[in-house]
Amino acid sequence: MSNDSILPTGQRRDVLQTVGGLAGFALIGSTSAAGAGDDGDVEGDGATENGRYALPDLPYEYDALEPHIDERIMELHHSAHHQAYVDGANAALDTFEEMRSESDYEDIKAAKRDFSFNFSGHINHTIFWQNMSPDGGGEPDGELGAAIDEQFGSFEAFREEFTATAENVEGDGWAMLFYEPVADLLFIGQVESQNGLAHQGSIPILTLDVWEHAYYLQYENERGSYVEEWWNVVDWDDVCDRYEFLTQVEAGKGKDDDHADETDE
Ligand SMILES: [Fe+2]
Repeated sequence: MSNDSILPTGQRRDVLQTVGGLAGFALIGSTSAAGAGDDGDVEGDGATENGRYALPDLPYEYDALEPHIDERIMELHHSAHHQAYVDGANAALDTFEEMRSESDYEDIKAAKRDFSFNFSGHINHTIFWQNMSPDGGGEPDGELGAAIDEQFGSFEAFREEFTATAENVEGDGWAMLFYEPVADLLFIGQVESQNGLAHQGSIPILTLDVWEHAYYLQYENERGSYVEEWWNVVDWDDVCDRYEFLTQVEAGKGKDDDHADETDE
């Protein structure tokens, strides 16, 4: 992977200095955080805009991942499916505001469910696009490669578990590699639909969409073939950057905590 930072030094420091930027970067990466202004809004092609969610541009053309993922799949997946999650999340925010203004919470259960589903879909897809590249494939090196070797035994063992996780999602859902900051661990999780089987506090750094809309036009019911081809477009530079950013945040938090203890004494 590249040793280049995700962001220029000054921009990276600016992002690190804002809690909002920090959390946003961890979840949706440089597409959003690189353009974040002082007010937290994102200018340009990020995943938020003016306090609402927005469809981020892909970092490549719709046909860039061929032959592994067809142009038509990418076009529909991004412009129709992802857009629907963005629209649904924003509609739920509007509904919440309306409920507050009218003090009428009769339909709040449905609205909360709508927001959870659509917001999660937006975040999942935003990471998914950035996790792929026409120059992808191979395996990670650096800190993430070492962590995978240590925690899974080898990259091959990690890949076998991730593949099995993806192939065995019941119905529509995702396989994800999470960074879990409490124990400083990596784990592979299944996500049902967009938001089922929650792993609160853990942050996805690699997401694989196994909804039928992600592969059926090309692979029909052969989800396993799609997953095997997907490994050829995984952008490990992006995944490594996410892991290193999060572990650096954890390390920095520890230093601050130590300092706070000294101050208290
Ligand atoms: Fe999807």
